[in-house]
This record gives sequence, C-alpha cells and structure tokens, in this order.
Amino acid sequence: MARMLTGDRPTGKAHLGHYVGTIKNRVRYHSDYESFFIVADLHMLTTKNRPEYIHESDANARELVLDNIAAGIDPDRVTFYLQSAVHEIHEMYTLFQNLVTVSRLERIPSLKDMARDANIEMPFGLLGYPVLQAADILCVRGNIVPVGKDNAAHVEVAREIARRFNSLYGEVLPIPEVIPGDVPSLVGTDGQAKMSKSLNNAIFLSNSAQEVKRKVMTMYTDPKRVRADIPGTVEGNPVFIYHDAFNRNRAEVDDLKTRYRAGEVGDVEVKQKLADAINEMLEPMRERRAKYDQPGLIEELIWAGTERVREETRQTLSAMQQAMGLTRVWNRIRRKAAPHPANGF
Ligand code: TRP
Repeated sequence: MARMLTGDRPTGKAHLGHYVGTIKNRVRYHSDYESFFIVADLHMLTTKNRPEYIHESDANARELVLDNIAAGIDPDRVTFYLQSAVHEIHEMYTLFQNLVTVSRLERIPSLKDMARDANIEMPFGLLGYPVLQAADILCVRGNIVPVGKDNAAHVEVAREIARRFNSLYGEVLPIPEVIPGDVPSLVGTDGQAKMSKSLNNAIFLSNSAQEVKRKVMTMYTDPKRVRADIPGTVEGNPVFIYHDAFNRNRAEVDDLKTRYRAGEVGDVEVKQKLADAINEMLEPMRERRAKYDQPGLIEELIWAGTERVREETRQTLSAMQQAMGLTRVWNRIRRKAAPHPANGF
C-alpha cells in the first residue's frame, strides 16, 4: 500500500488557513494510504530554539494532533510520531546533506521568509530545513505529501535528494509527490495576504461558535462600501473568499454576491451567513474533539507511533547504509580488529 506522510511544527493551534491548505487533503486521502503524521519539533528549532518553546512543544503537539483528529483524521489509520525522538531521522539527515548544494537551498524563498519573520540571520539548520524534511518523508518511504503552498518547494528538494541517492547508490528510496492545497493561501480576517496566529487574524478550528461569530463580524470587507445600498466588490473581498471556501450552500453564496454587487445586501447579513457556514463546518469537529480530548489518549498515540516509526526508519536507514557500502566498511573493520598486546589491550 502506498504511503502518505504529512505533519506540522508544534508551534500552535490549527486555523482555517491550515485547513484549506493541507488538513482537508489529509482527511481526504488518509484512508486510501498507509498514513504517517510527523510532529516536526526539530523543524521548530530552526527558528524557535529557546527553552520556553521546547517546554511548550508537548502541549502544542497535543493540540496539533487533536486538531487533525477533530478535522476528520481517523487515529486508527494514522501513525503519529515525534520527530526529535526518532534518532534515525537525525542520521538520515546527515547522509542527505551531501546530496544537495548550498546554492540550491539558498534559492528557496520560504527559508529566507522564515528567517525574516523570525527576525534572525539564517541559521545553518534553517538552510537545511528542506533536507531535514526529506528525511521525514523518506524515513517512512512516503509516496504522497499533502502540504501547503510554501512547502511544495521543500518536497521538490526531497524528490531531488531521493533521485540523487538512487542514482549514486542504487534504488532504495521512492520519489515522493506533492499534493497541493485547494486554496494556495488563505487571507486573514483583516484582509492581509496570509492568515496567521502571529498576525492575530486567524480563526482557529478550536474556536467556539461565539468566537467564530465575533471574528467574522469584525472582518475586513470592501472599504468603499460605507452603506448597504452602495454596490460592492466581490472579487478579492475576504468575506466572499471565505464564502467560496467554506459555505457549502452555493445558491446562497451566488445570491449574496449578486445582491452585494447591486448594493442590495448589508455586510451584516453577508457576515452572519458566513459565520453560520463556518460554524456548520466546525460543529462536527467540536464533537470529535470532545470525544478524543481525554487525558493521556493523544500522548499514547504519539508515543506508540514514535516507537513504530523508529522501527520503520531503522529499516530504511539500514537499507541506505547497505546501498552506500557503509555496512561493508564497518564489517571489514570489525573483522580485522584484533586486541593488540603492545597497546595494552
Ligand atoms: N514544513 C512543515 C511546516 O511548515 C512541517 C513538516 C516537517 C512537514 N516535515 C514534514 C510536512 C514532512 C510534510 C512532510 O510546518
């Protein structure tokens, strides 16, 4: 059975941008594949390595896994794992570092963006972010990788590394494929290009119905429209971008758009209907969250999954080491090794 690998850094709760970017695809595909979900805490360290971030990462890992289960991931069908506890990923990362050039990595815009957003000079580890991600994907021999827009370029690096490994040492690794999101990147409630926790413009999957309503009612719309009888612009308008992304009632959306363009509907009605549509989507997630939000349950999933992935990864790493000829070197040295009296052994 082909395999799916996906995951996130344990830095906070999932929002609607994550949902349309990747979670929806995870839910859609996870039962057709043998699926793995990484809690990428080593990737978190590339921009957030202070002790307080590390200290929070178990609570954040719990949120992350719970968000994905609430969104519809069946925990019986997915192996969750904690990246930093799979020692073999660190080893694989070292081997992969020689299969990609520095200039190739320097050309990836998302890495520079991450350094800029974190207000830091590019650390060595951040330049290697896609190489580490290649280890995550290839350690379980992942075939498909549903990710958001920024990560597509990283999966491309993983493909190049896998090809390079196979041509240099022999066919060991699959060439993973990207599954892109439905919406390339979701605007924030304030109309800024990207929804993000740090910009304070996000609606979280774990928000209550009242919180969703409050956030939607204060959303940025067409600024030229100071009264309900002025014709408004639908294109690029965040409330309609959200209606298109989340409202399953297409007839209602079409009707609102027509009336908005004609100056025959107030923002309040457009927003109320949007809040209702988002809440209708989130309601089943709230029920699933309540069901799985039990003490120790998520931790059990992560820990048991990590053990399982370690075993998988040991096998992949060992196949790589054999193909590379490393194991033969170890064996030759071990065979020749003899205690020597002159050295005091
Ligand atoms: N880079 C992803 C993010 O932006 C997290 C991640 C790490 C990941 N390793 C992965 C995603 C492997 C998919 C596959 O948070």
